[in-house]
Amino acid sequence: MAKKIIILSASPKKDGNTATLVRWFSRGARAKGARIKVIHTAYLKYKTPGCMSCRACQKSDKYECVINDEVRGVLIEMAKADVIVVATPLYFFAASAQLKVIFDRMFSLYKWDNAAGTMRTVLKGKMLILIASAYEGVGLDVLAKPFALTAKYTGMKFKSFLVPNAGTSGEIKTKTAIRKRMIAFGRKAA
Ligand SMILES: Cc1cc2nc3c(=O)[nH]c(=O)nc-3n(C[C@H](O)[C@H](O)[C@H](O)COP(=O)(O)O)c2cc1C
Repeated sequence: MAKKIIILSASPKKDGNTATLVRWFSRGARAKGARIKVIHTAYLKYKTPGCMSCRACQKSDKYECVINDEVRGVLIEMAKADVIVVATPLYFFAASAQLKVIFDRMFSLYKWDNAAGTMRTVLKGKMLILIASAYEGVGLDVLAKPFALTAKYTGMKFKSFLVPNAGTSGEIKTKTAIRKRMIAFGRKAA
């Protein structure tokens, strides 16, 4: 069956390095029949600046965020996907705020029972993929760590495609070897 892949493309640059890597990944995955949805997280309408830790999601049986904005719909799509891709530029040795603002709201896709010491999540068994690029060669391993740990904690498989020395926004388009590797990576993910 065709895999459902949701991609959180989290650079404010609509045609920069992240967007290019996402396009190449999608080309490969589509060639293998995957159904792909790309969300440009910088351009969603947010009612709050990230997760407000209201914990209302923990009082309901539904895996849904109670904040009724465009992220809510994205989270519902993430719960239905086989593969979740997060794509970000390196911003001061971390993911972009435009990714973090939505990633924290995945809180609603977990149910914790602190008394029993248990956790359930609709994300278990999915694949989490990180795509990231940086101008220089330092810091992508630091950026990758929280995503790898989140995947482990959640019971998700984890893969990453990290591009150091990618240049300034858009420069990656000339890097043919990366394009080929990324298309192949997309095919494999599907
Ligand atoms: C706010 C900001 C912070 C950045 N911080 C870093 C950094 O810490 N290390 C680095 O190598 N590049 C840094 N960069 C460069 C980008 O990570 C890099 O050019 C990336 O490939 C751009 O992707 P984009 O075109 O999708 O935005 C930064 C760029 C911006 C705008």
